Amino acid sequence: MKHLFLSWLTTAACIGGFAAETVWLHTLDLTPTRQGYGTPQIDRGIREQPLSIAGQKFEHGVGTHAKSTLWINLAGGSSRFQAAVGVDDATGDAKASVTFKIVGDGRTLWQSGTLKMGDPAKSVDIDVTGIQTMILMVGDAGDGIAFDHANWADARFRVAGAMPKTMAQPSEPAVILTPAPGPSPRINGPRVYGCRPGNPFLYRIPTTGERPIRFAAAGLPDGLRLDAANGIITGTSPKRGRYAVTLRAANAHGRAKRTLKIVCGDTLALTPPMGWNHWYTHYDRITDELMRQAADVMVSSGMADVGYQYVNIDDCWMNASKNRDPLRVGPLRDDRGNIVPNKHFPDMKGLSDYIHSKGLKAGLYTSPGPLTCAGFAGSHEHEAQDARQFAEWGFDFLKYDWCSYDGVVKGDHSLESLKRPYQLMGDLLKQQNRDIVFNLCQYGMGNVWEWGEEVGGHCWRTAGDLGFELDRVFEVALKNAEHRVHSKPGSWNDPDYIQIGLIGNARGMGEPIPCPLTPNEQYAFMSLWCLMAAPLFYSGDMNHLDAFTLNVLCNPEVIEIDQDPLGECARVIPAGEDTFLMVKDLEDGDKAVGLFNRGEMETTVTARWSDLDVKGRPPVRDLWHQENLGRFRDAFAARVPAHGCVLVRLDCGR
Ligand code: GLA
Repeated sequence: MKHLFLSWLTTAACIGGFAAETVWLHTLDLTPTRQGYGTPQIDRGIREQPLSIAGQKFEHGVGTHAKSTLWINLAGGSSRFQAAVGVDDATGDAKASVTFKIVGDGRTLWQSGTLKMGDPAKSVDIDVTGIQTMILMVGDAGDGIAFDHANWADARFRVAGAMPKTMAQPSEPAVILTPAPGPSPRINGPRVYGCRPGNPFLYRIPTTGERPIRFAAAGLPDGLRLDAANGIITGTSPKRGRYAVTLRAANAHGRAKRTLKIVCGDTLALTPPMGWNHWYTHYDRITDELMRQAADVMVSSGMADVGYQYVNIDDCWMNASKNRDPLRVGPLRDDRGNIVPNKHFPDMKGLSDYIHSKGLKAGLYTSPGPLTCAGFAGSHEHEAQDARQFAEWGFDFLKYDWCSYDGVVKGDHSLESLKRPYQLMGDLLKQQNRDIVFNLCQYGMGNVWEWGEEVGGHCWRTAGDLGFELDRVFEVALKNAEHRVHSKPGSWNDPDYIQIGLIGNARGMGEPIPCPLTPNEQYAFMSLWCLMAAPLFYSGDMNHLDAFTLNVLCNPEVIEIDQDPLGECARVIPAGEDTFLMVKDLEDGDKAVGLFNRGEMETTVTARWSDLDVKGRPPVRDLWHQENLGRFRDAFAARVPAHGCVLVRLDCGR
């Protein structure tokens, strides 16, 4: 009925000899709209109140919420688009800030700049003659989508030909770009590995190729031995020094050789740690059994063959005072103050032994506060006891999550208060007779990248939980890359876990479902993390890994960019309105270059040698396709899909 009435609003006129009419946006089918919250509203704001921008009321229009996109097929039939745009008054929050953008056939036709609550409506009146596909977009102005109620008021088309029709955003096939590893051996993983003298040593040589493979290692320091059948090196770390070990792998199809530098000293994590963390899949459902399965899959899926190594338990392995699962409720500590794992974790030492038996490493989680973020027992006032216990159990990695520590410092975020708990645990971990990588998780407070290393940290989260803002992967990465000067061996900026494949929804801690990212976004995600030398922790469902997800996670040439011994985080070079380059210097003089497109349509991105400090005609290799593209003079240009990337390595010689 309403639609019938609204269609009368369409008015006829005569433009250039053709009958032209006005077609209102709110009369179109709005169901293809994608938006960050709620559903599109006809003639009212997202809160279902009359459309109102800075006190100005509008009878007609569409109320939406950032981030929002609506694709419209104009088929060349429209000549103008007009509207008044702004933040809806009903948001009631001064933090609301949005950007409106209109894209036509891949070109930006109009953009509003940042509009906040109370800013008068901005009018749009643009020529869309000949445009085939138009996209109406609302962005979050870079500060997250909270309160971002956005109105396309009085929005209408002048139409002289084909009628505008909304359309579903074109879907992308999940194309596997990378050839499967060949049958002959290839040794992957880091080229440099740090350990501390006298501590237990464990290193599984990551190697692709058909099994059985026979391994050999020449130049292994005293105290270390290799199991030739499985490629696992164990023993006790040697005295301080640098040891160049020649690793060899051979099978029926061929042989491979590579030098691994073992650096025995004070610094661990000489390359970004790689592994899996349970959080974004199992949340408070994690069990000993699921952890063991993850370790099994890390080997059987081939992930361990390209360098994934840590199998990390996140929150919820301890007891809570109350929880929906009675098996997770119990005493937080025993009579002697020892932390008590919950009934889903009957044997912590047995679990770490199991993980180690596969040549992998085990990680654990706690908080400096009395409770973890999910309300389980934290380490407050038991730090020394817990550090000892974690080492005795055999854990190799500790994530230390601020959580309830706010209560301890009563909200005092002075640098001293921020550092204190991390310094304490950092010192304690160094005193253990184990190499324990220390991961600070406090969401970037007090510029943690400036002092994380000083308190004993090896990596630090630079922001909040990425699971809450998967639609902002590019923004989060670009923010993380701002701290690039703090990236170096043993000291890594951590933009959070890789969330592709099946993952749970962080908001509801739900069961795993397909991640909301398009295939190209997933390639871009992995490329960004590798270019930034970020820790690579997959946090999706290990029990349902599909071929596409494994392809994105396991390309050894891409991972090599992450694991490069220089430890540099790429620098960002803007390339166009929606495009940018990331350029990373590699130890052998090569450069890794990511060409990224954040726009809604495929476009050409150009990397100019003058911007990259590249000379001559270097050979260029496409890393996702593992294909040599030839030599290029002056520049390399590629078509880059929407929200996607092309990742290349320039052989700059030396
Ligand atoms: C915080 C952290 C997450 C995860 C949860 C567990 O939100 O940032 O990575 O560890 O706590 O409760």
